[in-house]
Amino acid sequence: MDLTIEGKAYINGRFENCCIGITNGRISAIKKVLKGDEHYNFHNKLIFPAGIDVHVHFRDPGLTHKEDFSSGTLAAAFGGVSCVFDMPNTIPQTTTVQNISEKIKIASKKTYVDFGVYAGITNNNINNINALAKKSSGFKIFMGDTTNSFQLNKAGLKDAFREICLTNKPVFIHAEDDSCINKHRINEKNIADHLRSRPNECEVNSINNILNAARDNKVKTHICHLSSCEGLQLLRDRKKNISVGVTPHHLLLTIENNPEPQTHYKVNPPIRTNFDREALFDGIKNSYIDVIESDHAPHTLDEKNVEFCKAPSGIPGVETMFPLFLHLAKQDSLSFQRLISLLCERPAEILNIPKGRIEVGRDADILVVDLKKTCKIKLDNLHSKCGWTPYEGWTAIFPTHLFVRGEKLIEDNELQVSQGFGRLIGA
Ligand code: DOR
Ligand code: ZN
Repeated sequence: MDLTIEGKAYINGRFENCCIGITNGRISAIKKVLKGDEHYNFHNKLIFPAGIDVHVHFRDPGLTHKEDFSSGTLAAAFGGVSCVFDMPNTIPQTTTVQNISEKIKIASKKTYVDFGVYAGITNNNINNINALAKKSSGFKIFMGDTTNSFQLNKAGLKDAFREICLTNKPVFIHAEDDSCINKHRINEKNIADHLRSRPNECEVNSINNILNAARDNKVKTHICHLSSCEGLQLLRDRKKNISVGVTPHHLLLTIENNPEPQTHYKVNPPIRTNFDREALFDGIKNSYIDVIESDHAPHTLDEKNVEFCKAPSGIPGVETMFPLFLHLAKQDSLSFQRLISLLCERPAEILNIPKGRIEVGRDADILVVDLKKTCKIKLDNLHSKCGWTPYEGWTAIFPTHLFVRGEKLIEDNELQVSQGFGRLIGA
């Protein structure tokens, strides 16, 4: 056994004092007492499975002044995330096998944590879905226009589902209906206007279309970043193969916060009312929602500090997600069981990867957390290139250690591995 980690670990739904034995990067034993070549005793600190972020936009290649695989995965690591899945709206978009291969090549040299990439589905590559599946962890579909997105229309959705069904890979869908967005579009001056332009109705219409396409098949369908109370209502009694994600910003921010500058809350789907936010929070507590995903969508401060209608949509969040919710769990806003299900267990199940649980046979991706170590989020301590956060001054708990595949990646705020440590997973 290469390594043993001792502490109060979350195993089978509860915390218990034990030793986790690790061999060749995998968990090989869990016992009261174990001896390894190297031994860490974290005493009463809590030991969690590391987080998995199923939804990031790392901008690499093409827009690396906003983020790249190096800065993005560094941010992930410091935020307790051992594995990220990157969206296809880069430049070029990963809608071809060649572009996906290129992205994987770039990421393999730069990443600090494990990664997967999604293939984008458009009306023009449906016939290629089988080939795309071989290189990617899953698929992404945009039902409505957003930052550098590509389109698949309603008719194409049915065809795409038929092909995706044969691949066994999950599909992640941005559920905002394009015709609805076009109908409501106004000249936007602030976040209230942005919400008027993309009302709850657009999400509801899109979810209805998706449920319709998914009705007669077993495609693993993930509704990304659910944002409306009505949308949640529609999804409450869904089939088993349909999962639902929600972002930290839709769980924590509302238009009533009235931020300065307003562009910092400009995102798609939009930040909505406190009524919607409360419904979503209830959804994570009561298991109506499967996953918290950051939808980390960095744009630089300069790009955001322009007239509202010209600013790009997107909010960063990969580094602050787990720390913010660890603090909320400590305060009893939700249980640790739910937190671990949302950030670790369900993401691993949806992507079918051997992570997300402290269990024999799985990757030893492990977080060490000292619940006494609360702090205020400070931009200076974050690692994204974008240079801003909507959570400045919010209370959070950052992990003290992160192990990925049994390697110590972070110890007391110091990075211990070099670029290129991350490996492709889920393809
Ligand atoms: O606000 C958004 N920004 N929504 C998306 O769907 C894409 C994202 C981005 O890539 O900036
Ligand atoms: Zn996104």
